[in-house]
Amino acid sequence: GLDASGTPQAAAVPAAPPKAAEPLTILFASESGNSETLANDMAKLARKNGFKPKVVDFADLEIASLAKEKRIVAIAATWGEGEPPARAVRAYNELMGDGAPRLDGVSFGVLSLGDTSYAEFCAIGKALDARFEALGGTRAHERADLDLDFETPAAAWIKDTLKALTPPPSADNVVAVDFAARAAGDEDEEAEPSREPRVVEVIDHVNLNSSRSDKETIHIALEFEDGAPAYEPGDSLEIYPENDPALVDEILAATGLAGDAALRKALLAERDITTLSATTVERFVKATGHAEAQKLIDSGEAKAWIEGRHLIDLIQSFPATITAEHLNTITRPLPPRAYSIASSRKEVGDEVHLVIAAVRYETHGRARSGVASTHVADRIKNGAKLRVKLKPNRHFRLPQDPATDIIMVGPGTGVAPFRAFVQERRAVEAAGRSWLFFGDRHFTHDFLYQLEWQEALEDGSLTQIDVAFSRDQPEKIYVQDRIAQHAKELVAWLDGGASFYVCGDATRMAKDVRGAVVKAYQDVKALSPADAEAAVAALERAHRYQQDVY
Ligand code: 2AM
Repeated sequence: GLDASGTPQAAAVPAAPPKAAEPLTILFASESGNSETLANDMAKLARKNGFKPKVVDFADLEIASLAKEKRIVAIAATWGEGEPPARAVRAYNELMGDGAPRLDGVSFGVLSLGDTSYAEFCAIGKALDARFEALGGTRAHERADLDLDFETPAAAWIKDTLKALTPPPSADNVVAVDFAARAAGDEDEEAEPSREPRVVEVIDHVNLNSSRSDKETIHIALEFEDGAPAYEPGDSLEIYPENDPALVDEILAATGLAGDAALRKALLAERDITTLSATTVERFVKATGHAEAQKLIDSGEAKAWIEGRHLIDLIQSFPATITAEHLNTITRPLPPRAYSIASSRKEVGDEVHLVIAAVRYETHGRARSGVASTHVADRIKNGAKLRVKLKPNRHFRLPQDPATDIIMVGPGTGVAPFRAFVQERRAVEAAGRSWLFFGDRHFTHDFLYQLEWQEALEDGSLTQIDVAFSRDQPEKIYVQDRIAQHAKELVAWLDGGASFYVCGDATRMAKDVRGAVVKAYQDVKALSPADAEAAVAALERAHRYQQDVY
């Protein structure tokens, strides 16, 4: 039985044998896995309600097939400065281009994930939503643009969109509305990792850089008392950080709320008190009615003013009477930060190792610090507790066959998952060769895990290592320069079936490395730029070129 209000009805005895369920295609464009998780949640709820859902990664999407669909939902993340997730780029560009199919008669909905601390908030979801309409599709439900605290509004959007996509009752469909059931928390939940954070103990805390380095990269080992979650090399662990108490006190002093102990506690652990976005400024003006801050918005200068500034700058530049409620509505929940796991359970048992670079810089005459990284670097010691949650990454995985060769490119903290890879391959006595490209500033101060790599070379779990120390000579040398120097050997490994992995900086490094691999194909095989590009694209589609970038 169908009830448009969403109230579950008693199951009616079907008068006729069940007919085919209603098709629903759920596309996702995911970088860190959130869009993918939501797509799977939505599919689960859709299946319960008589749909026949199909979940498709943009990475595997053939855009011509969309013309045949009846209903399309796209759940898309926006990355960096308004870009699609790396794996989604090809299909996204095709969809935006001349070759896109008409979508007349297709019902669609778009759920857009982003981060308000970036200028082009949710740009990709907005573009897809407009594109589906321009191609003739019919919007079944309004798009939602969600910030990092997306979970609750996403669940609501999924429910509402499924209702909107539900056909009117007829003898021909078996769609039954039972939206009372939450997508998560049902039958096949066992197989998934817990969605609740767990408390772990820090049992090791070491600065991997020498004291004379200008960097501070912390190695921590975390112990799960009741057994580590079943993580695989390639997965990440989210840390729930706390804010800098000095910054909390500064905000409390600036707002005249210094005596409020409960508020102080909330600001320490629950609210994002650093990020300043257009949204923050708007909420600030709404809460305080501050005329000068209003002018900043009206003049269109807010976007430029925000650049390099944090919430404290806003509060100090536009003094206003602020209450605890105001602070609560102005700020967003403090998001956890994900770090690529640097260990294999086969080597470390119930521990998880992470490698975290302390983020410190100065803007507008004020010292700034990354929330989670300096929480770990400055305010966590051996014996301390941390709240963490496993964040699996199915798209950054060792080859199934341990005999397959692997090439790993991980400058700086990008080396983290490759420590896990090498530990894992040692434990299973993998027959395949492994080649690591590592880079950092100085050989003497910044060669992360140098001794471990030497041991790995000796025991054979690492076959080859090439390093690029960018500041040991007048000119910069980067990992991609080493790739260029070893182009012939690299292409030979790839031709022999090797899988290629990149981890680290997304904005420049990962793109430069990809460019170096394309160039290697071009030079070694005398290919045109287009054919070399196609060769790398083919590796990506075969999941033999994988990225974990941030
Ligand atoms: P740099 O800081 O001297 O420029 C880890 O952070 C290493 O990555 C450092 O040696 C850093 O060099 C280097 N790096 C910076 N930009 C890069 C890029 N576009 N490609 C590759 N490595 C880069």
